[in-house]
Amino acid sequence: MSTTAGLKIIKPLFESWNEIQQPSAIHSTDQCMAFNEPFRELFGLLRQERASERFMAEFISPWSSYRLRVGVRRALGRRFDGTSFDAEVITCPLCTVEQELVYQTIVKDISRIKSWEDTMLQSERLTAMGKLSGEIAHEINNPLGGILLYANLIKEDLPGGHEAEKNLEKIIKLASKCRIIAKGLLNFGRSSSRGYAPVDLNHVIREMFSLIGDHNLFSMVNTRFDFEENLPHLVGDRGQLEQVVLNLMMNAAEAMEGSGELMITTRSSKKPASVRLVVEDSGPGIPEESRLKIFEPFYTTKRSGQGTGLGLSITHGIVQRHGGRISVDISDLGGAMFTVSLPLDTGAGIEG
Ligand SMILES: Nc1ncnc2c1ncn2[C@@H]1O[C@H](COP(=O)(O)OP(=O)(O)OP(=O)(O)O)[C@@H](O)[C@H]1O
Ligand SMILES: [Mg+2]
Repeated sequence: MSTTAGLKIIKPLFESWNEIQQPSAIHSTDQCMAFNEPFRELFGLLRQERASERFMAEFISPWSSYRLRVGVRRALGRRFDGTSFDAEVITCPLCTVEQELVYQTIVKDISRIKSWEDTMLQSERLTAMGKLSGEIAHEINNPLGGILLYANLIKEDLPGGHEAEKNLEKIIKLASKCRIIAKGLLNFGRSSSRGYAPVDLNHVIREMFSLIGDHNLFSMVNTRFDFEENLPHLVGDRGQLEQVVLNLMMNAAEAMEGSGELMITTRSSKKPASVRLVVEDSGPGIPEESRLKIFEPFYTTKRSGQGTGLGLSITHGIVQRHGGRISVDISDLGGAMFTVSLPLDTGAGIEG
């Protein structure tokens, strides 16, 4: 079909179609015939760019001419500046020109919906993992307790200086380490509403910092606090919230390897009634591709034996059980910025 002939026939159609608000193109199987203004905007096409010189495959990937998919599908939209976006593509036949079908394709930028879907999926996965790991940890915890008990009993019965003592101590040490991991996993999967009471987040932060502030890791760290005065109390499990604060502060100090800037901020907001904790550092930050992974259990970039990779997954679980949210971003200080939002009334979030 000659594009000019085709255009002549579809021109009247095209003029009314041009009022469509969504980015749309008219095309044969492969060849573009016309774009509307929103389409030009979405793909960054200049005004002088002629549709007849372009192919649909340049905008939508994949675009298969052998099996042109009529209907709705997801694909990648390719802008003219080389960037791309997640797109929903709707293609339907419009009319026939010289016995060839002419189609209309509407393109919708769904990057934001897609990233929200990914976050939801991740959150569901974490919840499922939490439940599973909690159950496994429970099964492992009891036999481990037995191993430790019997190993200690044997150790007590051994005559002093016995050659088996060293090996026994290794068993006890390794089994104790496993117990710490199992306990962490239990916490990650636990969904109890015991211990919920009014909590002053500022107080929790002060107390946790007084515990770890003298640690070597903080000796060269300039820690600043920007607390909202009279921060409203939230209803939560104090012990678990202490763990959240501790994990975030320790991670920041570990990322900075002992020197840099640490900033801890608290704020409240009225709608929805909530408090916000922000922990940011001047460390190396977290690459974008790892930002969802860091909340998964056992994800760690630390050297073997230095981190379990459970800190943030436990933190995520606790925040979720409090009906809150945790997100990670780039801080103005140059490193990572963790934001935890917690509703004042955690009633809805208590049952995990
Ligand atoms: N403030 C931060 N800056 C840079 N990377 C971070 C920061 N916080 C967490 N991470 C990254 O996220 C990973 C997972 O953190 P998480 O607390 O779950 O485990 P971990 O710190 O490695 O181990 P553990 O908490 O058991 O000591 C870390 O290994 C690190 O790569
Ligand atoms: Mg950690």
